Amino acid sequence: MKLAVVYDSKTGNTRQAAEWIAEGMNQVEGAEAKAYSIQEVDEEFVKEAKGIVVGSPSYAATMTPDMHQWLFAATGKLGVAGKLGGAFATEQFTHGGGENVILSILTIEMVKGMLCYSGGGAYGMPVIHLGPVGVNNNVEKHNSMDYYRDTFLIYGNRFAQKAKDIF
Ligand SMILES: Cc1cc2nc3c(=O)[nH]c(=O)nc-3n(C[C@H](O)[C@H](O)[C@H](O)COP(=O)(O)O)c2cc1C
Repeated sequence: MKLAVVYDSKTGNTRQAAEWIAEGMNQVEGAEAKAYSIQEVDEEFVKEAKGIVVGSPSYAATMTPDMHQWLFAATGKLGVAGKLGGAFATEQFTHGGGENVILSILTIEMVKGMLCYSGGGAYGMPVIHLGPVGVNNNVEKHNSMDYYRDTFLIYGNRFAQKAKDIF
């Protein structure tokens, strides 16, 4: 079962988060997960994928313009309807809009007919409400992407397990 993580990343934080999610997915037996930047998406792989998780940095508390453009253009040609969808974000500030980024991605995924999933509170700790958000240490020195590693891994694992249950 193929699963794709697609991200936009200029300085590596969102790429790191995407790689952790794919790692967590690949811990599920039968899952074959790959992470792609929007510039290098393997369209055949994504078309075959049962689930797609999309991630973006927070730019003015919403997704990047490049990700917005990719979601609009690519989802049409990749046949995403009926696939499991998820979203994640990275940001510079604890209250930097990560969940707004996730909501805006999930909204487009739903409009395109995807089945959206975060795990919610179903699994207990870490409780991931809408999708995982990582805060980097560019500004807040008390924060670091490394602190969020387990959350991204666990999110990927839960997402892949749900995709396996459904498909
Ligand atoms: C144009 C621009 C706008 C940004 N706006 C926000 C913002 O509103 N809130 C925030 O917390 N971080 C903001 N950031 C910081 C990025 O979201 C953050 O550094 C992110 O982790 C970068 O991801 P990347 O390393 O994958 O490119 C902004 C960065 C840029 C370049």
